[in-house]
Amino acid sequence: MPEEKTKTVVNSWNEWDPLKHVIVGRADGTMVQAPEPACVRNWPQYGFPMGTYGPLPKEMEEKANEQLDNFAKLLEDRGVRVDRPTPLDFSQKAQTPDWVQESMFGVMPPRDVLLTVGNEILETTMSQRSRWFEYLAYRPLLEQYYKEDPNFRWEAAPKPRLIDQSYHKDFWINNESKDEEAKMQHTYNKEWGLTEAEPLFDAADVGRCGKDLFVQRSTVTNAAGIDWMQRHFPEHRVHEVTFLEPEPMHIDATFVALRPGLVLSNRKRVPLSEEMKELFKINDWEIVPCAEPAHEHKAKLSFCSVWLSMNILMLDPKTVFVEEQETAQMEQFNELGFNVIPVPFWDVAAFGGGLHCATADVYREGTLEDYFPKQVPGY
Ligand code: NVA
Repeated sequence: MPEEKTKTVVNSWNEWDPLKHVIVGRADGTMVQAPEPACVRNWPQYGFPMGTYGPLPKEMEEKANEQLDNFAKLLEDRGVRVDRPTPLDFSQKAQTPDWVQESMFGVMPPRDVLLTVGNEILETTMSQRSRWFEYLAYRPLLEQYYKEDPNFRWEAAPKPRLIDQSYHKDFWINNESKDEEAKMQHTYNKEWGLTEAEPLFDAADVGRCGKDLFVQRSTVTNAAGIDWMQRHFPEHRVHEVTFLEPEPMHIDATFVALRPGLVLSNRKRVPLSEEMKELFKINDWEIVPCAEPAHEHKAKLSFCSVWLSMNILMLDPKTVFVEEQETAQMEQFNELGFNVIPVPFWDVAAFGGGLHCATADVYREGTLEDYFPKQVPGY
């Protein structure tokens, strides 16, 4: 019998190597989440005052899906294999032996759940009860990759209990009435709604630069989660990072590596970690402040900020997908020498983010490299 050829399906070490295979999310059935210890929505102006929940309006869902399908097509036209998750009924309750949560969330942002590091895809813990079962929407794909690729490492972080001890009681309800300065104090203290009772982290708090993983300590990622990641990836250097922002959640509208030696940094959310700045400096990386965003206000029913302007997807180290209304950001990319592909995507914002959020890497052509050969001791 001729030897069967094995195929590498999963491989991605950073944010910029040539993209060949990606998962693009879907807007189907996305919910304004029911209140829970980790998340409280309050949008009275759009019919969802605090305590209420339900599906996002159908006409919004249709527009978002149109833009997601269009983006998938653009990627395919560039030779990228695109897979889509299988939505669940997100209006149903989620339940474990410890708690019952009145609604789930959705499956637009695969980036939040799936962390690809080399030949591994890690299902992260998530820290909201409404998102506990979100990994199930990706299982058909992960099962398929597992069959296709004998070297694929399919991993899942310990499922968190998410019991009351995992949270500071009423953090989000109390936070509503605080001013900016009081909110910022939580950032200086690195303490928001999560306790350190168990490891908790979202994949979207991780910026991947080869051997170095930059992980944002945030409202959804605690120190125990970052420690778990370091132990899980012993060959990597996991660096905790924080930025000046009152309610940090996900690094990809704050600090985005574009190619070796160049990172785009949110012009408002300055880095607080001195060691991180030092690490970039001694390795000759340039930190460039991003352009002004196109929008003044968040999209309707969106929990994401206007800084989705920098939530971009690199097709390769020279080509970047940018939301089509972000003209200043596109101009800046042109000046930095990138080819820009504009993509209509603002209607997706309410479903959980921008172009980076809406995708999860499966395959980028490249190998594990050390882009930070000089290290800062103890960091
Ligand atoms: N939570 C952050 C990141 C979104 C991708 C923001 O809203 O800016």
